[in-house]
Amino acid sequence: MWTEEIDFRSVSEIRTRSTVYLGVDAILKIDDILNSLKTDGISKIAVVTGKQSYKKCGAWDHCVSAMDKHDIDYVQYSEVTANPTVDHVDAATNAARKFGAQAVLAIGGGSPIDAAKSVAILISHKDKTARDLYGYQFTPQRAVPIVTINTTHGTGTETNRFAVVSIPEKAHKPYIATDVIYPRFSIDDPRLMVNLPVDQTAYVSIDALNHVVEACTSMVANPYSVLLAKQTVDLVARYLPIAMKTPGDLEARYFLTYAAMTAGVSFDNGLLHYTHALEHPLSGIDPSLPHGLGLALLLPSVVKKIYSARAKTLAFVLNAIVPGLKGDVSESEVVFDGLNQWLSRFGVVKGLSNNGFDSSQIEKLVKLVYETPGLEPLLGLAPNDADRDSVAEIYAEAM
Ligand SMILES: [Fe+2]
Repeated sequence: MWTEEIDFRSVSEIRTRSTVYLGVDAILKIDDILNSLKTDGISKIAVVTGKQSYKKCGAWDHCVSAMDKHDIDYVQYSEVTANPTVDHVDAATNAARKFGAQAVLAIGGGSPIDAAKSVAILISHKDKTARDLYGYQFTPQRAVPIVTINTTHGTGTETNRFAVVSIPEKAHKPYIATDVIYPRFSIDDPRLMVNLPVDQTAYVSIDALNHVVEACTSMVANPYSVLLAKQTVDLVARYLPIAMKTPGDLEARYFLTYAAMTAGVSFDNGLLHYTHALEHPLSGIDPSLPHGLGLALLLPSVVKKIYSARAKTLAFVLNAIVPGLKGDVSESEVVFDGLNQWLSRFGVVKGLSNNGFDSSQIEKLVKLVYETPGLEPLLGLAPNDADRDSVAEIYAEAM
């Protein structure tokens, strides 16, 4: 395979709308990045992290040394959890505003990075709160510079304009999409990913897989989102089994990281539809549900629903996972079974009912899809007509 001829130990500078440093020991680039910020007059930054992983992954010591070297002061907010909330964002913003932060550094997976993106907006909109931002009460006009050190290979948030934060009292998990939160620099270092637990390793790559399945089949899919989708699926199919078996395999982590990053670019172009619109209510109701697991539980039913509208694209893109598809509309059951089989290899126990949900919640879930800011417009991007009935059918089949 062509990947054997790529040197995963060298650091590449990948230009998307963000500049991404990819490769083993890309973390060392934090020195150049902070030097660049300092040159731009930035001497105070807000650091947003989870509770521990930012240290355990090995990123923190490099950041502290680089901040010392370039005489940059920082204030840290380290309370971000999975499925971060508007309260996390407001607390981090308050600390950043008091300190006078001029930029934001996120270290972690999608949760700290999305919280940090939100903080970067709110530092620049002093009279606004995170509930204003995620309740769509204003359109962000600006944000302070964002630097991310990504520690999971799933969300792609290190390279795109999206962020997701929950409003707990409403069980809403809205997203924002705005050009002002493209990170200025991001680091994707596979060495920072090797401590990801085995189940999380699967869930984050399944998140990336879902990004591209939606981005290549949406009403705004384009040749670029399809190209990136194909490569993402090929790489996840090849390298996820290796990373699950040998978590320290740096080549596998490198290509899963690259796959997730380009999946982030794919959905920055092709956007998302059914699967994410239906997953956010699941982890909105149950914040302990990993996003990637929620997506995995929905994926076969979603693909079955849309297969007739995008059979050729899905047969092309999914070939490495469900071989032998010809792109014929009659294959919707084959692809449904094939995806379930593939997901079961990675510990996904199919059925929402086996993962804490029951059919009496379908009505509430459908309601949340239509009430949560931003989710209903995603349904309009599905390749065949989506309505309350089709949404309920997908939940029922996935149950
Ligand atoms: Fe996602």
